[in-house]
Amino acid sequence: MLWVTVPPMITLGLHAFTHDSAAALVVDGRLRAFAQEERLSRIKGDGRFPVQAIDFCLRDAEIDPQAVDRVVLSFRPWIGAATRLAYQLRRPRHGLSAAFDLMAKGRGNLGLVQQLRKLGIQASISRADHHEAHARAVFLASPFDSAAVLVVDGVAEAWSGASFVARRRPSPVFECRGRIPFPASLGLVYAAVTEHLGFRHNREEGKIMAMAASGTDDLVVEFGRACRLERGRLIVDHRLFDFGGQWTTKAFEKSFGPRRRPSEGLQPRHFALARALQTVTEGIAVELSRDLIRESGEENLCLTGGLALNPALNGAVVEGSGATDVYLLPVGGDAGTAIGGALAFETDPNWRLADAYWGSFPTSEEIDHALVAAGLEPSVVGAGVVPKTAELLAGGAIGGWFQGRSEMGPRALGHRSILADPTREDSRIRLNKLIKRRETFQPFAPCVLLDACEELFPGMGPSEFMLRTWPVAEESRPRIPAVIHDDGTARVQTVVEGDGSGLAELLQAFACHTGLPVLLNTSLNRRGEPLAERPDDAVTVFQETDLDFLVMEDVLIERTKGTSNAQYQRSNVEVRAGSRRANSQQPPGLGSPAPTKQRFEERTET
Ligand SMILES: [Fe+2]
Repeated sequence: MLWVTVPPMITLGLHAFTHDSAAALVVDGRLRAFAQEERLSRIKGDGRFPVQAIDFCLRDAEIDPQAVDRVVLSFRPWIGAATRLAYQLRRPRHGLSAAFDLMAKGRGNLGLVQQLRKLGIQASISRADHHEAHARAVFLASPFDSAAVLVVDGVAEAWSGASFVARRRPSPVFECRGRIPFPASLGLVYAAVTEHLGFRHNREEGKIMAMAASGTDDLVVEFGRACRLERGRLIVDHRLFDFGGQWTTKAFEKSFGPRRRPSEGLQPRHFALARALQTVTEGIAVELSRDLIRESGEENLCLTGGLALNPALNGAVVEGSGATDVYLLPVGGDAGTAIGGALAFETDPNWRLADAYWGSFPTSEEIDHALVAAGLEPSVVGAGVVPKTAELLAGGAIGGWFQGRSEMGPRALGHRSILADPTREDSRIRLNKLIKRRETFQPFAPCVLLDACEELFPGMGPSEFMLRTWPVAEESRPRIPAVIHDDGTARVQTVVEGDGSGLAELLQAFACHTGLPVLLNTSLNRRGEPLAERPDDAVTVFQETDLDFLVMEDVLIERTKGTSNAQYQRSNVEVRAGSRRANSQQPPGLGSPAPTKQRFEERTET
């Protein structure tokens, strides 16, 4: 008998030329590698051609550039181009520069072939429907066999959102049920108010959500007239908004107050406007999702798009959509469309996203090198790290926690985190002032052992990606003041053993001191930077902020304690040979050997 080996089909998905550029490698319909350019370039929101992310994916999946069969961009620039350009040109002051900006992005797209050739990629290039790419990424990652999918976004092609009914078998089908035509856009309304309040769109929407929890309801009714649903159709009052450059108009200022300069203090009216925006967008998202669930007859909902990075909105949809279960992708913004685009041409219906940990996987040698180069000396190495870290945290210390592969998406999930004691109000104040160097109103989020979450967050269930808020039990609120929003909710991450972060072990050790298996968990970065990716990035955060300690894998460095570098190097080698990491059965991370294709297969469920 003659056996013929069929070579694997290799697809490179890209999102580029707007913001949050990313690359994804799909082999025979299953995700094998993913990276977001900002993590590697260290430029927050980096929207350039993702050279480093592509290189990372190819090396991570051990694939030769010439073996790539197809490149897919998750955006079709010519679809809706006339509509977008016409809208820009109608804006008297900024229309022309915005139009030039559109053309510059077009040039980037035209140079794509040359840029790929420079990397040795000769494959043909295809384009995917942007909002369908959002939908594919979230649904195929989800545990569902069928679901309603709602995409709520800024603008792409001619639309700002879409709804689908998706089925996984026999092969995935996405039936489009409706689109929201640009310039009506919930995402752009949110961006406009973010700018009006003196913050940067696509970067600081989280601050608006945080402000909303403290605002009054004074402006909710009026804002509800500016942006509303009428018989399922999104209506935006374009006398108030200018998505072509100014964001808001004089008429908007008349109704909602003057634009705030970034250097200006925040007044109660700013908080009230944030509240109005959040309340109205949440209400619209809930209504859209409820209508979709009712009309589709589906029990499950997938929610994605730029606006689905808003945990309060997600929490409202989880509560109000009527869906039995709601799935949110950890990389629900545009970076995730690199995955959905790559899955547009070939999909294994059995593939699902097993976890969020797809980033860099530093070796012990890289960690050692970063520490030695920075002159940092450990105080504990090996099995004593977890109990000592718990003791430090319970004593009020704040520290970095760097473990295994980095997490995809904007949330730190225990692989690139800063941890602190949530029972102390001063943890929040100190973190905001001395480490994050940002506005003091911004809240932090808790991570909690799944087994203990019912007592603190009744009815919530698992929330592994920290993407939705949930009410904290009334009687538990005084116990964890540092992680509660003014409205009594928290953005919770539930933790189980074996997620590669070592967090479950640490939470148990911390509970021995405080009685609570809960920690404050925020991103390991400096203000304005992306999440730390490599050991050098973590060391920089440690050195340039007031963190009390840094844990990298099984090494603890305290700011004031240590041994000599020579001692460190010797003890490190000895201890690592028999450390908890070396004997661990955990998934990638925690000092395991370099990843292989087989290990990728283990990570994806069938
Ligand atoms: Fe998008």
